[in-house]
Amino acid sequence: MNSDTPTKHIGILTSGGDCPGLNAAIRGIGKTASNEGMQVIGFLEGFRGLMENRFVRLDNEKLSGILTLGGTILGTSRDKPHRMPMGGKEVDMTDVIVENYHKNHLSALICLGGGGTQKNAYRLAQKGLNIITLPKTIDNDVAGTDITFGFDTALGISVEAIDRLHSTAHSHHRIIIVEIMGHRAGWLALGAGIAGGADVILIPEIPYNNEKLAQSILDRVSRGKRFSIVAVAEGAVSESAFKDITKAKEDLQKAENGKKTEAKLKLKELEASCTGRTMKIAEDLQKLTGLESRVTILGHLQRGGTPSAADRLLATRLGTACIKYIKEEKFGIMVAAKKQKTKAVPLKDVVGKVKMVPVDHPWIVSARNVGTSFGD
Ligand code: F6P
Repeated sequence: MNSDTPTKHIGILTSGGDCPGLNAAIRGIGKTASNEGMQVIGFLEGFRGLMENRFVRLDNEKLSGILTLGGTILGTSRDKPHRMPMGGKEVDMTDVIVENYHKNHLSALICLGGGGTQKNAYRLAQKGLNIITLPKTIDNDVAGTDITFGFDTALGISVEAIDRLHSTAHSHHRIIIVEIMGHRAGWLALGAGIAGGADVILIPEIPYNNEKLAQSILDRVSRGKRFSIVAVAEGAVSESAFKDITKAKEDLQKAENGKKTEAKLKLKELEASCTGRTMKIAEDLQKLTGLESRVTILGHLQRGGTPSAADRLLATRLGTACIKYIKEEKFGIMVAAKKQKTKAVPLKDVVGKVKMVPVDHPWIVSARNVGTSFGD
């Protein structure tokens, strides 16, 4: 580096739900930046810390020993710049955030997050800030990237849980229904269900029918298998709920400007009431099959603890690539994983989309081939 070149200052923040691999990414960004003579600061608790100008300097000492740690050393929150909770109200604090970016003489701000964070980061890019994002979430539902970090670790945890549930389901001749995270996408439940050998997998992309679901379990009983494991994505929906949601989505599309907010709220409420119905599925299955049912909700266990080797690798690869893009002054992008390479995907192509599981995805095809039921 030329000694006359002014030092570049980089900001990082982690936003949305935490996941394993965030610290590996922070370390990858920080160490590469430091090797390039850049200085890095980490804002605390996502966009809130940026708004309040609370940060730590990410020097070598801070970055040391964090590769294997779960969570995020910076803390996180779901607070949005344009709807920041302030004294019981939501206030647009975007201008303060823009001011703090400049006050810290930042050349770039790197935002690590899932779908919501990509949206918020894009809004800041539209305000003229140099933004780069990384895709993280256990849900693997960010558009534009092959995979997100956090997913592989959560997958491993969920598979181990299903393995353990198998032996107890078998001993008691029970149906064990295991609820798996993933928000509105089925990647985690599908992957864990297949790898764990679940007999039934319910995902949002394939609406289920209670009778067909029960029949698939009764078919197993007739083959002498008196236990079943049902892997349910938290966003799984029944056929009738799916119809209602589709109708609400169409209504939203058709809604005139003044009615859009109302239609959006209606859709959100409907989605919330139709998902997370695992206890009800268990109740219905017990009635329809006559078999005793139990529910296990894996919840935040799936997001905690040490990142897997694959997540450490991915997060390091994407994190270090950020610095290359900063040097090339490529902003308004998400650093995506494309096979073994990275790709700069414009944020405008990422936001507002959810990467759902295609119903003809090879995972679904192979699950059907081994006789797994999707309740359809
Ligand atoms: O996006 C990650 C995720 O873990 C989802 O799978 C889940 O729906 C959600 O976050 C849970 O959010 P919270 O941690 O706020 O309860």
